[in-house]
Amino acid sequence: MNRNIIVLDTTLRDGEQVPGAKLNMPQKIEMAQQLKRLGVDIIEAGFPASSQGDFEAVQAIARSVGDSVSITALGRAVKSDIDAVYESIKLAQDPLIHIVLGTSNIHVEKKFSRSKEAVLQMGVDAVRYAKTLLPAVQYSTEDASRSEFEYLWATIEAVVKAGATMINVPDTVGFAVPEEFGDLIRRINERLKNLDDRVVLSVHCHNDLGLATANTLSAIRGGADKVEVTINGLGERAGNTSLEEVVMGLKVRESFYRAQTNINTKELIRSSRLLTHLTGLDVQVNKAITGENAFAHSSGIHQDGLLKDKNVYEIMSPEDVGADSMELVLTARSGRHAFKHAVEKMGFDTSDGAEFEALFAQFLELADTKKEVYDHDVYYLASSRSGAS
Ligand code: KIV
Ligand code: ZN
Repeated sequence: MNRNIIVLDTTLRDGEQVPGAKLNMPQKIEMAQQLKRLGVDIIEAGFPASSQGDFEAVQAIARSVGDSVSITALGRAVKSDIDAVYESIKLAQDPLIHIVLGTSNIHVEKKFSRSKEAVLQMGVDAVRYAKTLLPAVQYSTEDASRSEFEYLWATIEAVVKAGATMINVPDTVGFAVPEEFGDLIRRINERLKNLDDRVVLSVHCHNDLGLATANTLSAIRGGADKVEVTINGLGERAGNTSLEEVVMGLKVRESFYRAQTNINTKELIRSSRLLTHLTGLDVQVNKAITGENAFAHSSGIHQDGLLKDKNVYEIMSPEDVGADSMELVLTARSGRHAFKHAVEKMGFDTSDGAEFEALFAQFLELADTKKEVYDHDVYYLASSRSGAS
């Protein structure tokens, strides 16, 4: 039987930290409504202690969509941050406090200038305090992938004993590689299941080496129950793990991962396009799942194969992610089969073989002069020839 993987979307928190991605309140609410439609389990709505505006936005999201999707917000391991988180999310049906504190030597020494024991105690105190406010508390061991394992584990053990219900293991600077990160999660999972098997094990990856999706999928193989992701992989520097890639990875390779999510994949493109529209940040054309070219086929051999059977060159159908059906890009490398498809799609008759050959020759001549032949070019060619209907 498949495991269910919890999806926490942090587009409105980690994603929105990107320069130029700042959204205003109505835009944040619109995005949160789309995330709910998409079927994410938890929306991380912001970092309420960072500004009054962020606090109000988290509160508005908790009010407007928090009836049927869990809402969380981030705070550091200090009372004032945790209070801000609680006050901003408390009206949601299923609120979750999220606390972050570093566990790597570099964080302990350079950020906090305290002993490891003192930092660990800060985390425990923060969780204990959060538990007086709400039952659901997530603890993030920031920079976990660069932490000494035994200290990382000692922190996890202590905060679980203090009441944390979710442990999130971040690859904060995108340093991990898939085999290693999967092993790390496996090791933590084995100990965590012995300690308290009700605790949810979560991962949060960044894409500095382009490995965020691979690391997240590897962590799922290692036993992670929850993933933290953003639409379009939006996030600081090279971004966060992309929601659409992990979700479709699990769906397309379901028999390998034996895991699934509650995401309505037909809403993926709409979510991606909405975020692009709201932030003005484009997605690269060849981005997996949501890029303009993700389902576009331009080589003649591929187009011919697709027209015979879509499965020849497609591992998922565009309709599954809410995109238009198969898009054949016409270029100088396209073959007769794809061109015929385009001509017929526009209502022209291609039954006269000689006439079609002449039209195809004209198409090749034109295609040699441009990067792409568009629908309106095909229309012009076909309609200007005698015999075209
Ligand atoms: O990257 C990170 O470590 C984070 C934590 C707050 C989860 O964003
Ligand atoms: Zn992050």
